[in-house]
Amino acid sequence: MGVIVPDAVERYLAGLNRASDAVLDGIARENEARRLPLVDAEVGVLLRVLAMSAGATRILEIGTAIGYSGIWLAGALPAGGMLFTMEMDPERAREARENFARAGLTDRVNVIVGDAQRMVAKVSGPFDLVFQDGAKSLYTPLLDRLVALLRPGGLLVTDNVLWDGTVVPGFTDHVKNGHDTRAIAEYNERVASHPQLTTSVVPLRDGVSISVKKM
Ligand SMILES: C[S@@+](CC[C@H](N)C(=O)[O-])C[C@H]1O[C@@H](n2cnc3c(N)ncnc32)[C@H](O)[C@@H]1O
Repeated sequence: MGVIVPDAVERYLAGLNRASDAVLDGIARENEARRLPLVDAEVGVLLRVLAMSAGATRILEIGTAIGYSGIWLAGALPAGGMLFTMEMDPERAREARENFARAGLTDRVNVIVGDAQRMVAKVSGPFDLVFQDGAKSLYTPLLDRLVALLRPGGLLVTDNVLWDGTVVPGFTDHVKNGHDTRAIAEYNERVASHPQLTTSVVPLRDGVSISVKKM
């Protein structure tokens, strides 16, 4: 459970989430012991809803890990749609491909192995939705390129923008990687004042920011 939303509310929201499936549940269960920092199912279904409401046919994700959030996203794509997802760890990328295959989504996903800092220069837009969930220190350095890759009206979605509340002055004494806390706080300011974006932060789990690129 996170620290932003009370546990009872998180359990209630989890009980209302009927969009998961056997593959997603299996990955989440296998990850209980392993504890990779994957989104949870409530952020997953938010991603699915956003991709569907954007009518997304092209999605870009930074930070594939083993494909959990990617399955939520790619599951929203129509036939012929494509998720491009970037992961610098080749072993995680290999597992992600296996998981996309388990979910029957191989034809809709392109796992790009490498450093997103370089790879974002190599992909072409426009994308309907971009999901940032890679290294927190890269959130701000990647921002302008990701906005350029979005179509007008497209969505930039970013996970962990409340970082266990450590970005909120006075909220907690808990210290969670001070460098990343500063990086996320800077990112939140940049996104909030970005001339091409209108942004709302949803305090779900660890905080998700949702920005729409102005027309
Ligand atoms: C928080 S995890 C992603 C979780 C995934 N989005 C999910 O919820 O299922 C972040 C991932 O980003 C990857 N990563 C970190 N820095 C990266 C970079 N510069 N380029 C590509 N991937 C990176 C890490 O190896 C890690 O697997």
